[in-house]
Amino acid sequence: MQNSLFGLLRSVLYVPASNQKVLKKAPHLDADCLILDLEDSVPEQQKENARALALETLNAVESKDILRTVRINALNSELWMDDVQAIFDGRPDALVVPKVDSIASLQKLFDLLTGLEANHPGGFTCSVWAMIESPLGVINAYTIAKHPRISLLVMGTSDLGAALGIAPTVERGGMAVALQQTVLAAKAAGVGVIDGVFVDLRDPQGFADQCRYGAALGFNGKTVIHPSQVLPANQLFLPSKAEIEHAKTVLHSWQKAYEQGEEICLVDGVLVERLHARRALEILKSVNEMVEVTDL
Ligand code: COA
Ligand code: MG
Repeated sequence: MQNSLFGLLRSVLYVPASNQKVLKKAPHLDADCLILDLEDSVPEQQKENARALALETLNAVESKDILRTVRINALNSELWMDDVQAIFDGRPDALVVPKVDSIASLQKLFDLLTGLEANHPGGFTCSVWAMIESPLGVINAYTIAKHPRISLLVMGTSDLGAALGIAPTVERGGMAVALQQTVLAAKAAGVGVIDGVFVDLRDPQGFADQCRYGAALGFNGKTVIHPSQVLPANQLFLPSKAEIEHAKTVLHSWQKAYEQGEEICLVDGVLVERLHARRALEILKSVNEMVEVTDL
């Protein structure tokens, strides 16, 4: 539920960096994170202007209020090096790299970052988030996620759907394995994982259904494209009231059993072990519930 590296990442808002109006609005929308986009939402002739506006936004927005990341252009383009160099001084919380197929394809970026970091006053290390949005990327997701530079995977479901040749649907049955494999890769590597976008702004019910499904798969949050999607994502990636109450009951019952020398107990006829108590504790911590135990 909670990404231990960054705190909450329930809503991660894409903001085209060529659009001054949305850049001004974005920090005030209660999103947990912004992705200032230099890639697919920015026309070729506006790339340079977008870099300057992205840097201006990084400098204007306090990192403690909201995570500020920048999506650079793909590493097989002519654009990505200039992107990184133009925005690096804004100390982004992460660089989001699109269309990552393998860890080897990131080496040139890592080398560039190591050089820029060495010359940067104040000891800044730049996190890298990898977008998984191709069949090969999905297949290599674990080797990508476990590299020490990578701290999070972002699902790119529009590109992945196109590569698979399947129509976008609310249910996403055709990419269920890809979604699950990416979540498994991230969890096995101990990094965060964010679900792809829902592009039909006329269908808030479909958006909510996809958030619930993504949360049930284990995603930490959802990438969103419009202000109307921010609050629903924030709500749907937190545990519900019923889940919070259940977690309290599980933790309390297990603790009581433990104090009496037991490792297991029944809650409403369902077996509860230490691992369930631990999960209940995580849920309560994710919503800042006061609990007496701090570790299990
Ligand atoms: N971030 C911040 N503000 C946004 C926004 C975003 N992603 N999308 C829309 N807004 C603002 C608009 O500027 C508008 O502000 P206003 O009320 O002050 O005029 C308000 O929210 C309502 O927007 P609306 O008129 O409904 O939409 P639009 O036609 O301005 O924009 C999109 C629609 C799809 C072009 C826009 O939402 C967008 O660019 N989304 C991100 C797309 C993207 O980055 N894609 C790449 C990754 S998939
Ligand atoms: Mg994409």
